[in-house]
Amino acid sequence: MIPRENAMNDLTPAPRAFLLTGCAGFIGANTTRMLLESGAQVVGWDNLNDAYAAALKQWRLERLQEFPNFRFMKVDISRREEILAAWNALSSPRFEAIIHLAARAGVRYSVENPWTYIETNCIGTLNLLELCRVRSIPKCVLASSSSVYGETSVPILSEDLPTQTPCSPYAASKIAGEGLAYAYHHLHGLDVSILRFFTVYGPAGRPDMSVLRFVHAIAEEKPLRLYGDGRQVRDFTYIDDIARGVFCSLKKVGLGTFNLGGGAPSSVRDMIRIIADHLGKAPQVEYHPSHPADMESTQADISRARSVLGWVPNVAFEEGLKRTIAWYLENRSWVRSLATLSGE
Ligand code: UGA
Repeated sequence: MIPRENAMNDLTPAPRAFLLTGCAGFIGANTTRMLLESGAQVVGWDNLNDAYAAALKQWRLERLQEFPNFRFMKVDISRREEILAAWNALSSPRFEAIIHLAARAGVRYSVENPWTYIETNCIGTLNLLELCRVRSIPKCVLASSSSVYGETSVPILSEDLPTQTPCSPYAASKIAGEGLAYAYHHLHGLDVSILRFFTVYGPAGRPDMSVLRFVHAIAEEKPLRLYGDGRQVRDFTYIDDIARGVFCSLKKVGLGTFNLGGGAPSSVRDMIRIIADHLGKAPQVEYHPSHPADMESTQADISRARSVLGWVPNVAFEEGLKRTIAWYLENRSWVRSLATLSGE
């Protein structure tokens, strides 16, 4: 007879297990934390590249390493031999899904160095889809971007719009990743959720993006670099809403493409004004021509995410900015020195 304790254990379902790429990145780290807090096992891969300050990635990683159900492995997903070696180092892994959030992000820098975007976002994505196929992992969640909508005059972006007019190599690389995921669904029946994120911001966010750069510039009374006149609109989305959206997308969908947008688009001008008001400082603005790789405006139609995934954003833009500013001020002594906050 099985002792009572063991019998109880036998009835306990095994924890959910996920392989998540880009675990030291902004979206990756926050999604990993949410999964770990839910009790799931997470193996996180990241190559800790120098796309932006290593200190920020380390800071995020250290917080994840406090969880016993987290395992970090340094892996470059564009290198098949590294993927194979990492896989072989895992003992009988049984992942419910690969959550593929590793990417070369950054719209404007992709004009200067497109090759690295293709390596990570196309070859890397192909390698992970192939891993799903070869290792019978039934589901892949793929990080995509609002930038796939490219040059368009349609004001509200819904998932069925064509994506043939990317404005940057970054956007083109994300469209290619989506295409590969579609092919793996078509050929091999892989269940795929493609998530199009809309300008994600929040505490410990990407230091090459507008929100953190502007918080830094205004707090430190330095000029901020503004492309265009600031009338461009973004559907800024708070990081916790995004991590929850990834969580919701783990259900079986066959093949689904979902916009995850904040739901209350703001102009960049208004964003600067709100940050300045919260910091009680006047912004110094250095005007630069509009950047040709930028979309003019993004506004997500989120009705599909709402109806299929049961997802809606919860954090209003002003509240999200307040939390981001609070994080900056708490961590100011080391965050202010991150190189990409000041230069471009
Ligand atoms: C962001 C991310 O960088 C992409 O990885 C992501 O895929 C994309 O959002 C998305 O939504 O899909 P972006 O919208 O360019 O791209 O985000 P920001 O860097 O925050 O830029 C927002 C606006 O502020 C742009 O018009 C940009 O030109 C402007 N900006 C940015 C400035 O005027 N100055 C800066 O220093 C930075």
